[in-house]
Amino acid sequence: MAELIDGKRISKEIKDELRAEAEKFKAEGKEATLAVILVGDDPASAVYVNNKKKACEYIGIKSLSYELPKETTESELLELIEKLNNDDNVKGILVQLPVPDHIDENKIIRSISPLKDVDGFHPLNVGALLIGEKGYVSCTPAGVIQLLKRSNVDIAGKECVVVGRSNIVGKPMGVLLLRENGTVTIAHSKTKDLKSICKRADILVVAVGKPKMINADYVKEGAVVIDVGIHRMDNGKLCGDVDFDSVEPHVSKITPVPGGVGPMTIAMLMDNCISSLR
Ligand code: GUN
Repeated sequence: MAELIDGKRISKEIKDELRAEAEKFKAEGKEATLAVILVGDDPASAVYVNNKKKACEYIGIKSLSYELPKETTESELLELIEKLNNDDNVKGILVQLPVPDHIDENKIIRSISPLKDVDGFHPLNVGALLIGEKGYVSCTPAGVIQLLKRSNVDIAGKECVVVGRSNIVGKPMGVLLLRENGTVTIAHSKTKDLKSICKRADILVVAVGKPKMINADYVKEGAVVIDVGIHRMDNGKLCGDVDFDSVEPHVSKITPVPGGVGPMTIAMLMDNCISSLR
């Protein structure tokens, strides 16, 4: 039986640490303010944004909410971001993605001051991560590192395989594992013989966006498996990129879906917000 890596418990632990830290900062007259911008009426995005605002409230971070109609123009959005960039009270700015098609996502990401880019998406923050300098780190991969560390999984010297090469998860995940002295392979849709590459992994992180793609044929006995995917199945239940029932009997530790990586993303966003005061 694999040990479950409990993202719900670990994210609560982190949020409670941050709440105590926020209180100390408040006593020194310092408060973090996060501006959250949502353009359009995508229901999933509305749920995510709401969860982020609730987490802010729990920790003691002030949140400013900008809910803009889907017709908002790119220049209107850029104007708002510029205003928030120049507002010293605002420590973090987050534009929920995806934005509507008529808005250039890359342009929006680049318009947020790197010093307020708590998502860690700005090219300057991505570059800082790559060369080991200080900067904001993308929340989901940062959350995976916390899950591993707080579950006493040593990364140094281990074979780490990341499946998926997105800018938000796969690529920064590889760099973070490397920073922890893992031996890292980033696999993707063009990788030849994905099964044998995944089977090498002591730590397998899956972020491919394909429901239950990774089954027992892809894992080494005793590996640690982290599932970043989340999908709603026809029966209404959630599943990950990993076929949990097939993989679980063969591994030492595994994240469930839901309750694994998901709650960590918001916890690490909150950590980025509080770190603006450190
Ligand atoms: N859309 C899906 N995930 C994210 C995220 O981590 N940050 C933002 N801003 N938008 C998202």
